[in-house]
Amino acid sequence: VETGFQRADAVEPTIYIESMQTHDNSRQQALVFLAITGLVVATVLAGLGAMIYSRLRVDDGPPPRDAAQADAEIARPEKLEKPPPPEEGFVGSRKCAACHADIAERYQSHPMAHSLSQVLDAAPIEDYENTEFSPPGARTYRVEQRDGKVFHHESMLDADQQPIYDQALEVKFAMGSGRRGRSYLIFEDGLFFQSPIGWYSKDEKWDLSPGYRPESHARFSRRITEGCFYCHAGRTVLETGMGEHYAKAPFLEASIGCERCHGPGQQHVAYRELSVPPSTPDPIVNPARLSHAAAESVCYQCHLQGEHTVPRYGRQHRDFRPGQLIEDNWIIFVQGLRVDDAGQTKAVSQVEQMRASRCYLESRGSMGCTSCHDPHWSPPRDQRVAFYRDRCNQ
Ligand code: HEC
Ligand code: HEC
Ligand code: HEC
Ligand code: HEC
Ligand code: HEC
Repeated sequence: VETGFQRADAVEPTIYIESMQTHDNSRQQALVFLAITGLVVATVLAGLGAMIYSRLRVDDGPPPRDAAQADAEIARPEKLEKPPPPEEGFVGSRKCAACHADIAERYQSHPMAHSLSQVLDAAPIEDYENTEFSPPGARTYRVEQRDGKVFHHESMLDADQQPIYDQALEVKFAMGSGRRGRSYLIFEDGLFFQSPIGWYSKDEKWDLSPGYRPESHARFSRRITEGCFYCHAGRTVLETGMGEHYAKAPFLEASIGCERCHGPGQQHVAYRELSVPPSTPDPIVNPARLSHAAAESVCYQCHLQGEHTVPRYGRQHRDFRPGQLIEDNWIIFVQGLRVDDAGQTKAVSQVEQMRASRCYLESRGSMGCTSCHDPHWSPPRDQRVAFYRDRCNQ
C-alpha cells in the first residue's frame, strides 16, 4: 500500500520473453500469441491493481511526481551513508540546556520529555494503596512498593484460597509519561520484559497491560526491544555483538531528548563554543529549515507506526537521523485510518488521520504536525482550547 511517502517503485510489471526457446515457426507464432495475450492480461491486471491500489491509498497525497524525479529519488538511498551508532556524535539534552535554558525548561512541560524513567522517578500518578485486581480466571495481580523498589506480583489461589504460587518480579522502568497510561519494564541480564500489569490513567486503575488477554498472555516474558524503545526512549546502549542485549546502564538518555529531533549535537556545540563562529553554516538540524517532507519525517519517525515497518536493505531501525526522509530508512505499510467502529482512534494514528483530513488535502500537503503543535511545549489543560483555536485561526 502506497503511503504517499513511499517510493512508487513497485508498480511496473516486468515481462521477460527473451529466454524462451523457439524451434519452429508455428511454435514461435504460438509463443508470440501467448506473449501478446500475456501482455494484454498483464495490462488489465496492472490496471485493476492500480484501481485497487488507488482506493487503498490513505489520501490523494501530493500531486504525482514525474518519472525522472521518481527515478532520481529511487537512486538516492544508495548514496546515503550508514550513520554512526547512537553512541556517537551526541552530547545529551543536559548539554543543550546549558545554552538553551528557556527551551529546555519549556520542553519539560511536554509528555515526550517524560516518556521513560526509573520507576520511582516517574511522576507519582499511580495508586500504590489499592493495587490488587483479578481479571477473569484464576490469577490475581498486585503491586508492592518495598525498600525503595517496586515489585509486580502474579499469584494463583486454590479452591481453599491457599496460594499455589506467588511470583514477584522487580520492575525498574516506567514507560509513558502517564498522559494515557504506563507500562512497566523488568530488566534482567541485558534483556527487557514488559510486566503484565499496567496503569490506566483515565480510569485511575491497575489492569492487565494492553493486548494481554486474561489467562492467555505472555505473563512476564514479553520482550521489549528497539521496536518499542525507538519511539519511547531517548538513546539506548546495546552491548556490541550481542544482538538486542543492553548494556548495564541501558539508557544514555531515558526520555526523548533534543537530539531525537535535532540530530547529534556535538559539532553544533563545538561550532558555538568557538569564540568567533566560522562562516560555514551551523551544522545542527533545525526542522524549520528542512524541506517539508524532511521536517515531517522528524515527527513521523515515531508517530507513524502503520501495520508494519520494514527497514530498507542494509539499514537498522535506529539508523534514522533528523534531516533524512522516512523512506530513506524504512518502508511503512499503512492500512486504513486506525479509527475503530465506535469512532475511537487507535494509538499512534495521528499521521494517517491528519493526511486523510480535508484540512490536509486542501492545504495541498503543506500542513504538518507543527502547523498545530509546538514541539517544545504542551499547553496545560486550561490553555488548550485557546491555544489550538488560535492555531486554526492562523
Ligand atoms: C555553547 C552553547 C550552545 C550549546 C551547548 C548548544 N547550542 Fe544550540 N545554539 C547556540 C547558539 C548561540 C545558537 C544561535 C542563536 C540561537 O538560535 O539561539 C544556537 C542555535 C541552535 C539552533 C537553531 C539553528 C538554526 O539554524 O536556526 C538549534 C536547533 C539548536 N541550537 C539546538 C541545539 C541542541 C539540540 C543542542 C544540544 C545538542 C544545542 N543547541 C546546544 C548555542 C548552543
Ligand atoms: C523519538 C520519538 C518521537 C519523536 C521524534 C516525536 N514524538 Fe511526539 N511523542 C512520542 C511519544 C512516545 C509520545 C507519548 C509520550 C508519553 O506520553 O509518554 C509523544 C507524544 C506527543 C504528543 C502528545 C502530547 C500530549 O499532550 O499528550 C504530541 C502532540 C506530539 N508527541 C507531537 C510531536 C511532534 C509535533 C513531533 C515532531 C516535531 C514529535 N512529536 C516527534 C514520540 C516522539
Ligand atoms: C511507532 C512508534 C511507537 C512504537 C513502536 C510504540 N509506541 Fe507506544 N506510543 C507511541 C506514541 C506516539 C504514543 C502517544 C499516544 C498516541 O500516539 O496515541 C504512545 C503511547 C504509549 C503509552 C501511553 C503513554 C502515556 O504517557 O500515556 C504506553 C504505555 C506505550 N505507548 C507503550 C508502548 C510499548 C510497551 C511499546 C512496544 C511494545 C510501544 N509503546 C510501541 C509511539 C510508539
Ligand atoms: C519533538 C521534536 C523536538 C524536540 C524533542 C526538540 N525540538 Fe527543538 N525544534 C523542533 C522543531 C520542529 C523546531 C522548529 C520549530 C519551527 O517550526 O519554528 C525546533 C526549533 C528549535 C530551535 C530554534 C529556535 C526556535 O525556537 O525555533 C532551537 C534553539 C531548539 N529547537 C532547541 C531545542 C532544545 C534545546 C531541545 C531540548 C531541550 C529541543 N529543541 C527539543 C523540534 C524539537
Ligand atoms: C489541525 C491541527 C493539528 C494537526 C495538523 C495535528 N494535530 Fe495533533 N492534535 C491536535 C489537537 C487539537 C489535539 C488534541 C489536544 C488535546 O486534547 O490536548 C491533538 C492531539 C495529538 C496527540 C495526543 C494523542 C491523541 O492522539 O489524541 C498527539 C500524539 C498528536 N496530536 C500528534 C500529532 C502529530 C504527530 C501530527 C502530525 C502527523 C499532528 N498531531 C497533527 C491538532 C493537530
